Amino acid sequence: MAKFVDSVFVRKMCEVTHESYLRYWDERNGGNVSVRLTSEEVAAFDDVVEVKEELDLGFDASPLSGFYYLVTGTGRYFRNVIGNPENDLGLIRISSNGKKAELLWGFSDGGKPTSEFPSHLMSHIERLKVNPEQRVIFHCHPTNVIALSFTQPLEERHISRLLWKMQAESIVVFPEGIGIIPYMTPGTNKIGQATAEKMSEFQAVLWPHHGLFAAGNSLDETFGLVEVIEKAAMIYSQIGSQGGRIMQEISDDELREIADYFGRKPHVGFLEE
Ligand code: 13P
Ligand code: ZN
Repeated sequence: MAKFVDSVFVRKMCEVTHESYLRYWDERNGGNVSVRLTSEEVAAFDDVVEVKEELDLGFDASPLSGFYYLVTGTGRYFRNVIGNPENDLGLIRISSNGKKAELLWGFSDGGKPTSEFPSHLMSHIERLKVNPEQRVIFHCHPTNVIALSFTQPLEERHISRLLWKMQAESIVVFPEGIGIIPYMTPGTNKIGQATAEKMSEFQAVLWPHHGLFAAGNSLDETFGLVEVIEKAAMIYSQIGSQGGRIMQEISDDELREIADYFGRKPHVGFLEE
């Protein structure tokens, strides 16, 4: 019978965590990922039937009762997941009362889900309301995006426009722009609630001086979203290193034209009339 460790879900988590580490988005234990699996997908594996442990979630996740999440462990290094997925990843089912995480597979040395798991689940709840296909929450520490949060005003319109203007692809990939919360302590329910509120409107939320929270249908799509945002921020950094003077740019009319051409609706009010 098929073993979960050999599944495409584990393989994809290994790929994405490793690639993310190689891009300097996840130093040490920085970053965490969760991906929703359907009961049909889980049923294909006979080594994920038993509940090995129950963990308190610390908030009411009942809208996700019975849902399965493959999630990275707290304190685990993204660079190591690929070599030991059964230790650094866990497959969780949300209990019927929404208060507990039931561990079905993984965390073989007694580990626990990421400290940001409540934030992930709160964001999953919001993203599912926007689009029931959304399965992934991905948190990481992309260098140039974090740098922007020091040099720029923390305003959604301003930072979204800046990122849109750095390359033609930005507005196609994140036409809603990016959301921003105030600086907050990581791992708390408070940062989870603030992030989830933004997730009703945005697919990516900037945590100032910390990183990004991104959502998507698949791991590839979510990774791609972070890639495009970080690339735009990197171009901005490079402009700085070339003297910082912008001689010409993509105009608001040109941004509107790209969005129209690709059938995207830019965030209302972010482009000038
Ligand atoms: P975890 O090791 O608990 O996943 O935390 C990493 C992190 O990036 C916190 O924001
Ligand atoms: Zn973090």
